Amino acid sequence: MIVRPRRLRRTAAMRALVRETELAPHRLVYPLFVSESANAPVAVASMPGVVQWPIDHVVGEAGAVAALGIGAVLLFGLPARKDARGSESHNPNGVVQRTVRAIKSAVPELIVITDVCLCEYTDHGHCGLLADPEAGKNAHTGSLPLNDSTLDLLGQIAVSHADAGADLVAPSAMLDGMVAAIRAALDAHHHADIPILSYSAKFASAFYGPFREAAGGTPSFGDRRSHQMDPANGREAMREHALDVAQGADLLMVKPALAYLDVIRDTRERFPDMPLVAYNVSGEYAMVKAAAAAGWLDERATVLEILTGIRRAGADLIITYHAKDAARWMGGAVHDG
Ligand code: PBG
Repeated sequence: MIVRPRRLRRTAAMRALVRETELAPHRLVYPLFVSESANAPVAVASMPGVVQWPIDHVVGEAGAVAALGIGAVLLFGLPARKDARGSESHNPNGVVQRTVRAIKSAVPELIVITDVCLCEYTDHGHCGLLADPEAGKNAHTGSLPLNDSTLDLLGQIAVSHADAGADLVAPSAMLDGMVAAIRAALDAHHHADIPILSYSAKFASAFYGPFREAAGGTPSFGDRRSHQMDPANGREAMREHALDVAQGADLLMVKPALAYLDVIRDTRERFPDMPLVAYNVSGEYAMVKAAAAAGWLDERATVLEILTGIRRAGADLIITYHAKDAARWMGGAVHDG
């Protein structure tokens, strides 16, 4: 006798009945880049469909995102001025702080998450303070940026975002102790209710290339390998998650997603009670867009398959630049080929 799993695949209705992994727009987070100096949307060449928004245009976009049922937006700011200490990052009238206030007053139901890091605000493009902002001198130290002296600044950034009305803060600097420092700062400033989504397992990845064009945070020298994780290390990711849980992280993240599905699965198993977010990053988006533009891949089917795979690996939420299209494609019947 032949065992016949194909019986359950015969029709779309039968496939839907036994489908294990569901996609839904509220599981998606849409990143938005907001520019303090732009007067009109500026296209990001390496990420077709992604733009840098002027502050007064982004509110309309946030409304469109909410109307699609997408769970949240994640804000990245491009300040008009940068300096060695990233001073604009915690300016109460900085680009992110103004954007948060504008979105929360126009679309209060939309969850607003803010990226907490210094790389878009420092003139050297590093995620924290440097011992000496002169390139040559740091090139030899091997360890960029400074850890402990940056923590206080990350706390100030998070507080400024929460003061503006952010619902969640997401520290992405991969500095040791950053979650504890941010938790203490939030608690000390009447923001005990604001959760922290830690970029807990963030790898030093080539897939961030297009993002650095979008957000203007490319290091002017050196790289991020002394703080972001070695792509070879899956076990170490569990150690990073555990440290962040101990420091008070409310949600964990694995980033990027596609080359790290094993890490997502391991995280799901080791931290079953933590909400888990996967970041489907800029390079992963650019690959699909380029192949689709060339006519080599069916964009809709590819994107839905990728998002399903990330969810199947164990992610609860997915941060993705495909969120708007994907939410539209998910409308109505559960996707099927
Ligand atoms: C920087 C930050 C990066 C991304 C999110 N936050 C870039 C980096 O670490 O170099 C990458 C996101 C993407 O590639 O989509 N704090």
